[in-house]
Amino acid sequence: MSESTETGMASPEAASGAPAEAVPERRIAIVGAGPSGLFAAQSLIAQSDVPVRIDIIDRLPTPYGLLRYGVAPDHTSIKSVANALARTFDDPRVRFLGHIQFGTDTSREELLAAYDAVVYAVGASEDAELGVPGEHLAGSISAREFVAWYSGHPDAQPQHLTGVTAAAAIGVGNVAVDVARVLVKSAEALSTTDMPEAVLAELGRHDVSDVWVIGRRGPHLASFTTVELRELVSLPGLTVTVNPDAFDGIPDDLDRRTKANVEILREAAARGEGDGPRRLHFAFWRRPVALEGTERVETLVLERTRLDESGRVVGTGETERLPVELVMRSIGYRSIPVPGVPFDERASVVSNVEGRVVDAEGVVRPREYVVGWVKRGPVGVIGTNKSDAAQTVRHLVADLGADLGADLGAEATAAGGPRRDIVDVWAERGVKPTTFADWQAIDVAEIERGAALGRARTKIESWRELLDLCRSAD
Ligand SMILES: Cc1cc2nc3c(=O)[nH]c(=O)nc-3n(C[C@H](O)[C@H](O)[C@H](O)COP(=O)(O)OP(=O)(O)OC[C@H]3O[C@@H](n4cnc5c(N)ncnc54)[C@H](O)[C@@H]3O)c2cc1C
Ligand SMILES: NC(=O)c1ccc[n+]([C@@H]2O[C@H](COP(=O)([O-])OP(=O)(O)OC[C@H]3O[C@@H](n4cnc5c(N)ncnc54)[C@H](OP(=O)(O)O)[C@@H]3O)[C@@H](O)[C@H]2O)c1
Repeated sequence: MSESTETGMASPEAASGAPAEAVPERRIAIVGAGPSGLFAAQSLIAQSDVPVRIDIIDRLPTPYGLLRYGVAPDHTSIKSVANALARTFDDPRVRFLGHIQFGTDTSREELLAAYDAVVYAVGASEDAELGVPGEHLAGSISAREFVAWYSGHPDAQPQHLTGVTAAAAIGVGNVAVDVARVLVKSAEALSTTDMPEAVLAELGRHDVSDVWVIGRRGPHLASFTTVELRELVSLPGLTVTVNPDAFDGIPDDLDRRTKANVEILREAAARGEGDGPRRLHFAFWRRPVALEGTERVETLVLERTRLDESGRVVGTGETERLPVELVMRSIGYRSIPVPGVPFDERASVVSNVEGRVVDAEGVVRPREYVVGWVKRGPVGVIGTNKSDAAQTVRHLVADLGADLGADLGAEATAAGGPRRDIVDVWAERGVKPTTFADWQAIDVAEIERGAALGRARTKIESWRELLDLCRSAD
């Protein structure tokens, strides 16, 4: 299949009408084995204009990024997307080079010397901050940290819920819905998930009875999706309340999704008290202005809000105090600069035009590309990354096509001789990547651990155990 459809350019044969000279194979490095990196690899191997060989590098010995360490453990059907992404590695042209941190174990210069093109797919590993007093008190964490903990990310700090009876999630996106659901769902319902045993034990014994979800605008302006909202408020036995003024000033001409969200909230609030021990409270038109407490968070101070004439959120000056021992800001993830690569600090993304990396003046940096959350910001579901990666790959293949025959990556070969395999370059400094077979050994161990406990999988969250399993796969 010539990828005239995929790449938008004619193959050399088609362009000249005569058999073309053999097109040289191009080596591509993709940094980040999350959904966007793997979709980029799939797009590259699906095209036939330029023969490619692809290395997918990740700082973890496990692929799939936030699909493994973000998507909620009780959402098993979306987790199964990993099976489709795993097929990327069935192709002999694709290698997984795990446990290699870009910026520490390898660099932009090193990759540009070893490859014809580099695609950055490192996602968003930090989070946005509220910028209010008390934000860094103990008991105030980001939803990202809470998610990383219950997902068994090896870098996650253990979370302790002892002494927490009321918790608040700030923000009304799908991540807020996820963290709220994990806290209000019964231990029994969570016990079938792949959460590490220590996490399940903590979630099985906590006394959190009240969970608040705080939106700085109205329910019609919330970014959670209808399916996720309905699932949350429909949990058996759950009492749901919504502040009465939440529905003030909601326009009549809502789109279908928004209308459904508002209806679901109205109905859940009208249902009255559930027969379970937990309560979920939505508080719209409220924004945090301070977190207070002596050693740890004791009170969340909220200010009532409204929209000004230009639609911006403004405070009314009227405040309320909410007693909570845990605050999870769920106001968005944030990408951090990729060492050596131009970064748009305002948007927190790698500077790019449709996936081609550009410098501060907007001039294209040849051979460098970007996909996923670090390209467009921390929004979009897994599927969004597929079309996003395809756009970048179209440009990449067109650029490689335009350079057919040119000595790409000339700096690598300036000293003479063929370009060296990056694995040999790393080996000289004692850096050894883990492989896809290593990941499969982890996968098998997790499935076996789960089977022993009557579950489909139990995640291994310790770096030491993960790396021991990699070594045992050698
Ligand atoms: C909590 C949460 C739940 C979600 N739930 C869903 C859901 O249910 N359904 C859905 O469709 N979407 C969901 N999403 C959205 C989805 O996860 C994202 O759209 C998607 O993961 C973004 O893909 P990405 O490849 O850009 O980033 P990521 O998935 O973050 O992948 C980035 C990869 O880069 C690696 N990396 C980072 N830095 C380096 C470095 N310096 N060197 C080497 N490797 C590095 C990381 O280890 C990671 O593997 C959720 C998102 C979050 C935050
Ligand atoms: N099941 C799923 O499909 C699933 C699950 C999880 C995540 N995801 C996806 O992953 C992406 C990220 O989700 P997300 O929830 O992190 O982001 P999000 O959808 O952008 O939601 C962020 C929320 O934080 C609020 N917020 C931002 N800054 C704030 C501030 N300073 N003070 C108070 N509130 C603030 C926003 O309110 P404003 O609107 O007022 O700015 C918004 O309600 C989304 O595309 C989401 O759909 C999908």
